[in-house]
Formats: sequence, structure tokens, C-alpha cells
Amino acid sequence: MDLFEYQARDLFAKHDVPVLSGEVIDTPEAAREVAERLGGRVVVKAQVKTGGRGKAGGVKLADGPDDAVEKAGAILGMDIKGHTVHKVMLAQTADIVDEYYVSFLLDRANRTFLAMASVEGGMEIEEVAATKPEALAKVPVDAKEGVTDAKAREIVEAAKFPAEVADQVAEVLKKLWTVFIKEDALLVEVNPLAKTGDGTVLAIDGKVSLDANAAFRQPDHAELEDKASANPLEAAAKAKGLNYVKLDGEVGIIGNGAGLVMSTLDVVAYAGEKHGNVKPANFLDIGGGASAEVMANGLEIILGDPAVKSVFVNVFGGITACDAVANGIVQALELLKSKGEDVNKPLVVRLDGNNAELGRKILTDANHPLVQQVDTMDDAADRAAELAAK
Ligand SMILES: Nc1ncnc2c1ncn2[C@@H]1O[C@H](COP(=O)(O)OP(=O)(O)O)[C@@H](O)[C@H]1O
Ligand SMILES: [Mg+2]
Repeated sequence: MDLFEYQARDLFAKHDVPVLSGEVIDTPEAAREVAERLGGRVVVKAQVKTGGRGKAGGVKLADGPDDAVEKAGAILGMDIKGHTVHKVMLAQTADIVDEYYVSFLLDRANRTFLAMASVEGGMEIEEVAATKPEALAKVPVDAKEGVTDAKAREIVEAAKFPAEVADQVAEVLKKLWTVFIKEDALLVEVNPLAKTGDGTVLAIDGKVSLDANAAFRQPDHAELEDKASANPLEAAAKAKGLNYVKLDGEVGIIGNGAGLVMSTLDVVAYAGEKHGNVKPANFLDIGGGASAEVMANGLEIILGDPAVKSVFVNVFGGITACDAVANGIVQALELLKSKGEDVNKPLVVRLDGNNAELGRKILTDANHPLVQQVDTMDDAADRAAELAAK
């Protein structure tokens, strides 16, 4: 889960990373009082989950409360790379003389954590990384040792921070590492980390991505979720504990096991090329124990998606055998009917693996008008795509 800048700022403050005061608002008029409280001169910053806000005109200096209202009015509602600005943060201004870059992230390829740092931070960091890779230091961080004094010093030296800020940057690095570990983050990035006129080092802009897999031990993180812009189907699926991702096609997909569902998306996309380019409408993994309830929950979400024209249920029976899944489908359709749900989209079911024969017989005997069985995955994908194209 990516955070807004103001949320990252709050987490930084919680772990004693030096930041400027700031407050978030969602109407221009609210800027007046906040600007007065922050001392008049403020920076008005679009809160959108994308970089390059400064270049897009989403970061503006206001020289007083009236100007803050005007700048907030100009930035609220703006579109930055497809993200509409619903909130702005007003922050104190810093007298910046130098801009650096620092980050910690999970380096999956090398199976370690990684620190990155550069004395050429600021709005051109992507350019620096692409054209002058030697100006971006990369230092692996051992998961068990973390950022010790020695490691912080190593990062500072690798990036060639000037001597007058070395101690402060090392201290900031240790605190950012605390944020990274204590908050179960996948990314903690500060750009710019600024040196101000009086020689102080401050985190001016922060980007944090939290690991959703750690949600169970981070109860405070739930409230950081941006519920307003969450996809309603994804939110409903999440509330039901389903592994669901909305996609933009027409064929609803249900499968057991993430690997099978991934390959189902591929075969449906491939089959769809012959049928007017229909595509998968979602990813949904109902996992190992495909009970009637889980199946009903999954079908309810998928059938509730107006973009869905047909559904492909692709199951490979393992520990949960096909007969249990077939019973799950039959009961799920009954459950939805009894709840008054309008079940009116064709379902293509492919059962294979443990007890496939028995599972198929259960579906055949149930003889549900919307359910069609196809024996192989490719043929079933083709049928589902064909039905969606109709
Ligand atoms: N509080 C601030 N005081 C002074 N300058 C700022 C402040 N916040 C941002 N800036 C300037 O604006 C630039 C862009 O802002 P930043 O928050 O990094 O947004 P983005 O990275 O999305 O462009 C910074 O590099 C910095 O020069
Ligand atoms: Mg920035």
C-alpha cells in the first residue's frame, strides 16, 4: 500500500526523522487558517500517489494566507498523471541550499534490502539514475544487522555526502531504517533530503510503501488506506477475505490457487483474441478450501461487476476435491438465488484433478441452465471468451 506524502510525513515524525510541520486540507478556504498557524509563508503541495508533482505544477509557494487560498484553489481538482487532486498539504517552507536523495527498499532480485543515496537529489533524480548511475550509491543492507552506525557511515561515504552534513545524514538514515523496519515498509524514500541555509538536514518529501502482508501485526495501518479511491468491488472482496483484483475485461475468472488463476488469465486473453479481443475481467483465487460459501462470495463479487459478460470457473482438484467444488458451485448458485441476486450470466466450468469425474457428474445432475461444462482449460477459455463476445 502506497501512502500519501502527508501520511509518510506523519510516520517520519513518529520515528523522529526531522520534518517540517504540515497539515492536510481539502478545500481552498481551509488554507487561510492553516497558513496563519504555520507562519504565513507555506508550500502548497498536491497529495496524489504519483511522483513529479513539482514539475506538473502541483507544488507551489504561497507568500501568505490569501495566496495560500489561491494556490490551494489552483491545485485542488488538478489532474496529475491521471490522479485527481482531492487534498493538498500546506507545509512550512524551508530555505533549501542542497537537495539529496536517500531510500531503503526491498531488493527482490538480490534477496536483500538495499540503501540508495545520492547528493544529486531533487526533481531530476530519475535522470541522474539513468544517465549518471555512478552518482547513485547502492549499498546492500543485511536484514539481521540492519543499519548500524557503521552501515550508515558506509552509505554516507558511498554517496560522498559533504563532511558538514555527514553526521546528520547518518542519523537520518538510522531513523529512516527504523521507519522501514518498525512499520513493515517495502520502500521508504526521501527526495529531497534537504540541507537548509542554517546547515540543518530535513526530509522535505517522503514516499512510503507498506507491506500489506504485515497488516495483521500493524493494526494502525488500516486507517491509512485511501478508502475514497479504492475500487468498490475490490473493497467488497477484501471485506470477504477474497484474493481479488479488478481488471478491465469481460470474462470473470475464478480459480483455485494463484498459479492456476494466473495461467487462466493468460489462456483467456489468448482465446479472447479470436472473439473480438475480450479479456479477463478480474483475478480471483478462492484458495484451497473452496466451500460453498467462498464460492458464493466469489460469484457474488464477479456477477456484481457490470463489465462481466461470462464467467470461467477453472478448478484443479487437489486436497479439496472436484466433487466438493462442484457441490460448492451448485450450493453457491442456490444461495445467491435465495438472497434474491440476479444470476444471469453464463458460467463455464472446467473441473480436473482429484475426483473430477464425480464433480462433473454432480454438475450434470444439477443441470443448472447457466452452467456449461468443458473438459479442458483451453476449450473452456475459448467458450467463455465466445460467450462474453456475444
Ligand atoms: N516545504 C518546502 N519548502 C521549500 N521547498 C520545497 C518544499 N517542499 C517542496 N519544495 C521544493 O519543491 C520540489 C518538489 O517538491 P516535492 O515535495 O519533492 O514533490 P515531487 O517530488 O512530487 O515533485 C522540491 O524538490 C523542493 O525543491
Ligand atoms: Mg520529491
